[in-house]
Amino acid sequence: MSERSERNIDTGAADRLSELRAQVAYHNRRYHELDEPEISDADFDLLARELRELEAEHPELAVDDSPAEAVGGAPSVLFAPVVHAVPMTSLDNAMSADELHAWGNRVRRSLGDSPARFVCELKIDGLAMSLRYERGRYVQAATRGDGRVGEDVTPNVATIGVIPKQLKGRKGLAVPDVVEVRGEIYMTIAGFDRLNAAADAADGRRFVNPRNSAAGSLRQKDPEVTAKRELAFWAYQLGEVVGGPAFTSHHETLQFLTDLGFPVNPEVKVLDSLEDVFQHCAHWQDHRHDLDYEIDGVVVKIDDLAQRLELGFTSRAPRWAIAYKFPPEERTTVLRDIQVSIGRTGRATPFAVLEPVFVGGSTVGMATLHNEDQVRVKDVRPGDTVVVRKAGDVIPEVVGPVLSLRPDGTSPWQFPTTCPCPLRSTLTRPEGEADTRCVDPACPFQRDQRVIYWGSRGAMDIEGLGERTVMQLTSLGLVEDPADIYVLTAEQLATLEGFASASAQKLVTAIADSKTRPLPRLLTALGVKHLGPAAAQLLASEFGTLDRVMAASSDELAAVDGIGPVIAASIASWFELPASRAFIEKLRAAGVDFGSESAAAAAAAARAAVPQVLAGKTVVVTGTLAGFSREEAELAITSRGGKSPGSVSAKTYAVVVGESPGASKLTKAEQLGIPILDETAFRHLLETGELA
Ligand code: IVH
Repeated sequence: MSERSERNIDTGAADRLSELRAQVAYHNRRYHELDEPEISDADFDLLARELRELEAEHPELAVDDSPAEAVGGAPSVLFAPVVHAVPMTSLDNAMSADELHAWGNRVRRSLGDSPARFVCELKIDGLAMSLRYERGRYVQAATRGDGRVGEDVTPNVATIGVIPKQLKGRKGLAVPDVVEVRGEIYMTIAGFDRLNAAADAADGRRFVNPRNSAAGSLRQKDPEVTAKRELAFWAYQLGEVVGGPAFTSHHETLQFLTDLGFPVNPEVKVLDSLEDVFQHCAHWQDHRHDLDYEIDGVVVKIDDLAQRLELGFTSRAPRWAIAYKFPPEERTTVLRDIQVSIGRTGRATPFAVLEPVFVGGSTVGMATLHNEDQVRVKDVRPGDTVVVRKAGDVIPEVVGPVLSLRPDGTSPWQFPTTCPCPLRSTLTRPEGEADTRCVDPACPFQRDQRVIYWGSRGAMDIEGLGERTVMQLTSLGLVEDPADIYVLTAEQLATLEGFASASAQKLVTAIADSKTRPLPRLLTALGVKHLGPAAAQLLASEFGTLDRVMAASSDELAAVDGIGPVIAASIASWFELPASRAFIEKLRAAGVDFGSESAAAAAAAARAAVPQVLAGKTVVVTGTLAGFSREEAELAITSRGGKSPGSVSAKTYAVVVGESPGASKLTKAEQLGIPILDETAFRHLLETGELA
């Protein structure tokens, strides 16, 4: 490398370093001192990490007061300062299995031959707090502040019910003369939702997440405000201790905290190998949403207190602990635009077009905004920096704007008055409804969506008829409605982009195969408002053929058990439309199976023969069963008079659990004490209607 370019790189590093230092210091202050972060935790972690790495690469550019070493923020002048008797340090992070193992290796090297034992605790996403007790009496609560000096929030913390005000020396328990208890103050998700619901009803100033609202609730001048917030506490560490029992391990101290009357999180695990530790972290990464409070990782601590002394601290964190951080579910990014998409029923859904960002395990470039009122409540505007959230299997959503970063000259977003389709049809929002719709039956965007829905998994299930193919077919004028797909030829399909003669032939076969789908699928595919798979199943077993469903009056439809008057009216009026009739006749001409009279009669006879042992009972199925497909299991339940909805409630009679069940269904069933059945018990239930 030439001397010149070398100097260039160093100037670059120096510039980047000062830029990063300024940014890290700025965001540290927004988060810790103002409770008003502008960027997500994950975005902050990335900046701080880049800064530390760059400082490590360039020791010649070191400064004394780098924000990379800072723990938290400076204490606010609003509260009296408290010098921590034992500093409240931060934790180093591991973002992957590799980084966790690298930490394990460093520990092992330092400890020589003595094996380490690990205590794993959930990393609660709240606010660190130090509670001080003298002769058993609560005397002080202090925030972490910059780690050395915190803020005195004693009266505020005193309002939290679960925090003991007087420690009781129960039998044989010596209460220390002085004890500092460290832990996390947090807000439950339910409490957070209630707080935001109240905010919506009042001034509309919502909180972005439970951590932020816990922090904001505590740092109030008036403890009355804190008292109204639903705050809780988990204790996880001792600070200064004078007197009391001696300990040799961390898990003993957790037991001691429990005995003194502090809430200690029950999900603590003592493990002997780092492999098990990693499995444990991976488990909680998948199950973090089973809890009613937010966690952002797992804290792994060395159990042996003598080993901890040996390992010691770096300038900002203990070497004897590491925070395994889950991949972020919230990131900040720029909202480029708000557009609306048109669904098959004409519903116009606003969505955010985002600067792509990696969140919740994938790159997200779009996120739903649900409806007009949601955009108004959140008041997000193109150009805003926004918080994007993608949690578990939930579709990505925009949480809200970062107001401090809003560019000048923006105004609230207006819902468009015309459909984005080439016809520019009018969009209308009926009085009292949440949804805005395009009501033009000729709207080509609705038509595209209807054809896509026709071929989708839950409807006629036509492999190869995806969105891209449908768009090509409709734009070439080859398909006007779903019935047109049945006259497509392999030659026509072969002219489409991405198709060869073999794939064209395959699609023709898949389309032809779909003609014989069972009646419930056909009814679902029609896309009639309120006529979903469950109602379709009920109608198919009652009427047996499409013609009979079509001929039924609204009253006759409503007479079917499980079909309400709203569904019945919607179905009857759909079949009355001349356009619907014409469409049905096109399907008939194409040879689509409408169900046969003889099959309908046979089904009725079979139904009469099946004892209705599950009449009035609701049985939920989750996970994969060996002897039944999901549809077969549900049919087995409904044909015996039972109901089989997709979610567990207090009314559920039993939950049938197969391989890889849905965690939320299982947890809910356990919480509600609903019987959980394996496949054998399920067969018994089908036979007898009783639990084994
Ligand atoms: S131990 C010296 N245990 O995470 C050890 N911290 O990123 C100090 N946190 O400041 C902390 N759950 O606010 C510990 N089970 C847990 C924790 C936990 C959440 C927070 C705490 C700490 C931050 C570090």
